[in-house]
Amino acid sequence: MKSFKIALIPGDGIGPEVVAEGVKVLKAIEKIDPNLSFSFTEFPWGCEYYLENGKMMDDDGIEQLKEFDAIYLGAVGYPGVPDHISLWDLLLRIRKEFDQYVNIRPITLLNPTLTPLKDKTAKEIDFLVIRENSEGEYAGAGDWLFKGKPEEVVLQTGVFSRKGTERIIRYAYEEARKSNRTLTSVSKGNALNYSMVFWDEVFTEVGKEYPDVQTYSYLVDAASLYFVAEPERFEVVVTSNLFGDILTDIGAAITGGMGLATGANINPERKYPSMFEPVHGSAPDISGKGIANPIAAIWSVSQMMDYFGEKKWGEAILSTIKEILLDKESLTPDLGGVASTSELGNRFVELLSSKFV
Ligand code: NAD
Ligand code: IPM
Ligand code: MN
Repeated sequence: MKSFKIALIPGDGIGPEVVAEGVKVLKAIEKIDPNLSFSFTEFPWGCEYYLENGKMMDDDGIEQLKEFDAIYLGAVGYPGVPDHISLWDLLLRIRKEFDQYVNIRPITLLNPTLTPLKDKTAKEIDFLVIRENSEGEYAGAGDWLFKGKPEEVVLQTGVFSRKGTERIIRYAYEEARKSNRTLTSVSKGNALNYSMVFWDEVFTEVGKEYPDVQTYSYLVDAASLYFVAEPERFEVVVTSNLFGDILTDIGAAITGGMGLATGANINPERKYPSMFEPVHGSAPDISGKGIANPIAAIWSVSQMMDYFGEKKWGEAILSTIKEILLDKESLTPDLGGVASTSELGNRFVELLSSKFV
């Protein structure tokens, strides 16, 4: 019997609504599979917690999370608390403190009707974005000088360490080699004359160890064009923190929207827990209405199962997602259906369970 300890941070807005459905899926798996058990500990951290306690999480929150095998997070951020406070004190803090330097975001068209790109097939939209997740433009380095004065100056410094750049690029080469796919680096060396020139050099340098991997290198503006116009160019993509953030929202747009996009924040050395979360935020415009699409959060559970070495379950979840996407009745309004968040979750669990009777 394998037991996994999962920390739940449902967070804000639609976060708790979609995490509840992911937990239903985990509980269903536990019921079906006699070799697996999960324990859940829920943390009430987020913007409401901040308004009551003046902080987004407990002072020793990182210590508390260390003992878990994985963190399952909904979304963080809500009007009433400045975003740079809520996100830095919780989500970005966990990514950094747990050195989750790899962010894996699949851009996979699970059903051909979901893409707004006419004539693009599922075969043409199927790639993986590997986003640097610990430094770069998100290093939090900078200064705000002469605040409010006419000579006011703001600095936001990108930090690209050799260690940080090499390890993410190496991870991506390994992934491309392992899966026999091409690797595309996305950067911006023509304008960012230190950081991205360095990135490109490291990409070439590390590539010498992987002569078997076919590579491409695009500037981020051209890559954005190709994400929409020719997504078939991509198989594995490696890019910096900010470019990865932006590009994966484009990825979401071409594969069915934010309700379907997932991302895993991985510490490959497994020294600290990894964190699984949908790419979307707290969606204040639809929160509380019970109409958020939980599929992204359920796909995060699939990524968690892969990470736990339970590939069979990772695949079973993904194939059930593909199946449920064929049944419009069961889908939420963002996908043209009429189902509520929990109706979709319940239907999903029924479908998944029916495969194992
Ligand atoms: P968002 O992802 O919350 O919403 C963007 C759009 O997508 C909205 O129209 C929303 O209704 C829709 N959407 C998102 N998820 C959906 C779902 N599951 N089903 C159906 N529709 C969905 O982005 P935003 O509006 O820019 O940000 C809102 C808040 O969330 C901000 O505070 C932001 O900082 C935060 N945020 C947090 C995370 C995170 O915790 N990982 C990610 C992104 C944004
Ligand atoms: C994401 C989010 C976060 C990011 C924000 C909320 C800080 O947009 O996970 O894509 O930019 O990484
Ligand atoms: Mn984002």
